[in-house]
Amino acid sequence: MSPSMSLVRTKHLGALAVVPFLLLLGCKDAAKDEPAPVAQAEDPAAVHPEIWPSPKWPFAPDAALEEKVATLLKKMTVEEKVGQVIQGDIASMKPEDMKKYHLGSILAGGGSAPGGNERAPAKEWLQLADEFYAASIDTSNGGVGIPMIWGIDAMHGHSNIVGAVLFPHNVGLGATHNPKLLGDIARVTAEQVRTTGIDWTFAPTVTVPQDDRWGRAYEGYSEDPGLVASYAGVFVKGLQGDPSAPDFLRGHHVISSTKHFLADGGTENGRDQGDAKIPETELRDIHNAGYVPAIEAGVQTIMISFSSWNGVKHSGNKGLMTDVLKKRMNFEGFTVGDWNAHGQVPGCTNDNCPQAFNAGLDMFMAPDSWRGLYDNTLKQVKDGTIAMERLDEAVTRILRVKFRAGIFEAGPPSKRPLGGDFKMLNSPEQRALARDAVRQSLVLLKNNGGLLPFAANKHVLVTGDGADNVSKQSGGWTITWQGTGLNNADFPGATSIWGGVQAATKAAGGSAEMSKDGSFKKKPDLAIVVFGENPYAEFQGDLKVLTLPGSMTQHLDIMKKLQAEKIPVVAILLSGRPLWQNRELNLANAYVAAWLPGTEGGGISDVLFKKKDGSVNHDFTGKLSYSWPRNATGAPLNVGQKDYDPLFPLGFGLTYAGPQELAPLSEDPGIPAELMNTGSYFDKGTPVQPWSLRVSNGSDTTRVTTVPAEAIGGRVKVTAIDDEVQEGARRFVFAGDGKAAVQVTSENAVDLSREANGDVMMLVRLRHDGAVPKDLKIGVACGPGCGASLPFSDTLGALPAGKFQTVGIPLKCFQKNGADVSKVTETLVLETEGKLDLAFSQVKLGTVADKTMSCN
Ligand code: BGC
Ligand code: BGC
Repeated sequence: MSPSMSLVRTKHLGALAVVPFLLLLGCKDAAKDEPAPVAQAEDPAAVHPEIWPSPKWPFAPDAALEEKVATLLKKMTVEEKVGQVIQGDIASMKPEDMKKYHLGSILAGGGSAPGGNERAPAKEWLQLADEFYAASIDTSNGGVGIPMIWGIDAMHGHSNIVGAVLFPHNVGLGATHNPKLLGDIARVTAEQVRTTGIDWTFAPTVTVPQDDRWGRAYEGYSEDPGLVASYAGVFVKGLQGDPSAPDFLRGHHVISSTKHFLADGGTENGRDQGDAKIPETELRDIHNAGYVPAIEAGVQTIMISFSSWNGVKHSGNKGLMTDVLKKRMNFEGFTVGDWNAHGQVPGCTNDNCPQAFNAGLDMFMAPDSWRGLYDNTLKQVKDGTIAMERLDEAVTRILRVKFRAGIFEAGPPSKRPLGGDFKMLNSPEQRALARDAVRQSLVLLKNNGGLLPFAANKHVLVTGDGADNVSKQSGGWTITWQGTGLNNADFPGATSIWGGVQAATKAAGGSAEMSKDGSFKKKPDLAIVVFGENPYAEFQGDLKVLTLPGSMTQHLDIMKKLQAEKIPVVAILLSGRPLWQNRELNLANAYVAAWLPGTEGGGISDVLFKKKDGSVNHDFTGKLSYSWPRNATGAPLNVGQKDYDPLFPLGFGLTYAGPQELAPLSEDPGIPAELMNTGSYFDKGTPVQPWSLRVSNGSDTTRVTTVPAEAIGGRVKVTAIDDEVQEGARRFVFAGDGKAAVQVTSENAVDLSREANGDVMMLVRLRHDGAVPKDLKIGVACGPGCGASLPFSDTLGALPAGKFQTVGIPLKCFQKNGADVSKVTETLVLETEGKLDLAFSQVKLGTVADKTMSCN
């Protein structure tokens, strides 16, 4: 047991959570400091089901249902049973596959859409649902024909669908402290999902994030388990309906999945898919808080986390999945895996993992691995690695849900209630509800001199890169997985913050103008500066320190300039979490944390501006559901509850009625510079710390620190050229011949294996001028014999000369070609023996490229 494990502290529970681990091990009096006998030291990952709660499953035993399930089960072949426990992704399977393999379910992951088109209209989603449904009940090759169910991440509304009204992400909903509102949002989300023929949403996320550096913090309502618990059951009921009502799971309702079981928000250093090194009591008291009311509300599925508890992957943890969740906590729905998460269980691969199944995973999420997994699982059932009873148990659980949901009688998705009723993606009532949610989610942190509410009949400037940017307002899990690569045209009917201000001032006889950079045509009476995090999802949002990335500082310049001109400034932060904002808080007269409000930006002007008669229109009611850091030194608040000293505590939020002044804050972030590195290796023509730029032929190596430079005896000449900013790129002219490579390199290896599984790419923004040599290769490296490179001349040659474009190389391709992506020391290697004139400005991880390379 490591010392850190015996004194685990958490952000929320305070001193209470500083439970000496020994107490848990049954040591009589830990306070006496008696050394625990070594022989008694228990495995820190040992599970004690008897200490867990035992919520009531809200369904009485139902003999008729059990009979239906048993009868159907008897008719099924072993192949059909194995099919039921596997879920494939629509990007990697066709309706014909469904017909042949009878999978129990399909999903559309964050990056998947009908025909691969993330902007596919709603009717194409519905049509695809019909096609998969028809294939699933097709019995022309024999079989029983069990209707499939389709799961999707409707995370903040039906967020994969263009045109759907999107609600604030959960971090913002947390600030509303309003369970009733949550129930309404859940009901509307279910309706939206139904219009496209989809049955199941992987929501709500009932995580209780304890470290805001985690890239999924915004998917959680709060760091406070009590608040999460007060929402979880209400939200599940909003989605699924009341367990005792006849329309439970039917009509306007969908199947819900609480996730990610367990302690996804408790991992060390807030690392996504990491390890929660905490005692079992903390697992139970903090991270399990939402599952209890969810089970009492009859949640039908629970998604098992990618992450680990004390070194054991949840996807393979029998003690938690079977003994605690199913037996002790009476959960009788089915467990579903996370995206190939089973492949991370020791001894498993994405297409082979009896361990997870035997530990209690009922349905594998096997997006692109379903085919191999099907074969292997079938083999394992036949040879006894997986017992038939275990398979029957999993299938029984899945069939129960399907019967309860009525899908055997429901007919094709398009014929079910709301199927094709696309006006229910964005009705005026939905917009009004979302706008109200935005209003309630805003937290006022400063309002010196009572600047707000402001008279709307004045001249107002809205500026900053978030001013007119619905994508930035909406964050990750929006149309695309990362929420990137979108513009306002992708959000028909939505209102940006600028749009809201424009309407409000116009209605009051005032005026408004908008610029990204703080410039204006007419001197404004008020400037609203909107800035913050750009969209991200999952591990791509993990931070080492709680600051905006180094390159995002333009808003500070804008605020300084406006202040110098004596224009009062309201700062609006768009972010998935609290961040260190002391400089911004100092610069602005008023400061609002707006989280990720979604498509109804008008909710912001509703609160900022007065009514015509000068009275308050809507006051601020939002209160922090995450405490706000005083400095940026990473894990700011779980550094120990003793030192718990947030700038603004949980529950903080000013109103127009109370005191609103904030005194100047220290501007020392207190962080070492090398911690600022974030998935970006080369930016604006220079390497990002701790990366460097190198030219080498193996024996002759030059580190390029200034330009112009020459390497390998003149073989490669390096100069600066412009891209986006002055001298924002480096140009490499390869003359003569002989081996030569340009590399972005670091002594410290980075682990990109999670990114590789998640379809993340290495993005290189580059251009070429003139001919491209036939032998040009692009690759990553990780020490002798461990890298991989891919032919690059065709891809590069196909790009127009003289124009910067972003090429994306899926990390998977390097992996397929033998690279060990868990220890990359060169994130870019460009190599040729020929002549070449090439420049690049950026090397970073991401998911949106002008040109994506295929692995072949
Ligand atoms: C995420 C889940 C999500 C699933 C399907 C996973 O990577 O962790 O939250 O439901 O993908 O998109
Ligand atoms: C999918 C997401 C998934 C992620 C896994 C992406 O390619 O689109 O749904 O959550 O991979 O990390």
